[in-house]
Amino acid sequence: MTDASQGVAFSRPMVAGNWKMHTTVDEGVALARAVCAAVAATRRVDVAVLPPFTHLWAVRPVLEGTGVRLGAQDVFWKGSGAFTGEISPAMLAGWCDMTLVGHSERRHLFGERDDEVGKKFVASLAHGLQVILAVGETSEERDDGRTFDVVDRQLDAVFAELDGPPAVDAWVIAYEPVWAIGTGRTATPEQAQDVVAHIKQHVRARFLDGSPRVLYGGSVTPANAASLFAERDIDGALVGGVSLRAEEFGVIVAAAETAASARDTD
Ligand code: PGA
Repeated sequence: MTDASQGVAFSRPMVAGNWKMHTTVDEGVALARAVCAAVAATRRVDVAVLPPFTHLWAVRPVLEGTGVRLGAQDVFWKGSGAFTGEISPAMLAGWCDMTLVGHSERRHLFGERDDEVGKKFVASLAHGLQVILAVGETSEERDDGRTFDVVDRQLDAVFAELDGPPAVDAWVIAYEPVWAIGTGRTATPEQAQDVVAHIKQHVRARFLDGSPRVLYGGSVTPANAASLFAERDIDGALVGGVSLRAEEFGVIVAAAETAASARDTD
């Protein structure tokens, strides 16, 4: 968890489910209901689901009064205009809680550049949307010893688009090593902790006297969640594949809840 002695920190855990391009609208609504039931006992963790764009409006009423937050998997940075196929932050503002920007599938499959991720980040905040900013290295970059350089570059490109630090609870970083996403090859808790701690240090040194939450993402499962959340700086998880199975997703949320209680009584 974050260290309150080093400036402003916001360390309530978050577990967000990135559904990616899965489920029909009806299946998505059913999944949202099942997720709400599976996490109903949660008190200490912010829980969010990120369905496909087509599902957001249908899922929103299901989440009403449950505390589960609604997020979009991507967003464009312009408010409106001739941008066929894009969704603007203005379209999501007021009823959708958050956006995810910079997911490695957007960066690597769709060629999104660091500065474009920065523009999406700024546009989301400007419309009152909380943002999850995903960063992470490829296996080649890790093997070359460039992990810290890559995440620093991705973060600095976002900071360059901002006039000043946003409120610490307005944004969340997700460290997602590309080699761990959807591969079943999770980073070890030590590997994840190492990079997450570096990210917090980098944010403090370059940008902000404090730190937003930093989640880990990449093949998080009920089997490995507790050991990841036991690490000092890991503030929760961004979950892909397992977020499509409500009960297992609920087990991951419960592991975050247990870790948060343990910290409270430390
Ligand atoms: P995964 O995906 O949990 O299926 O590895 C994580 C993500 O892409 O956010």
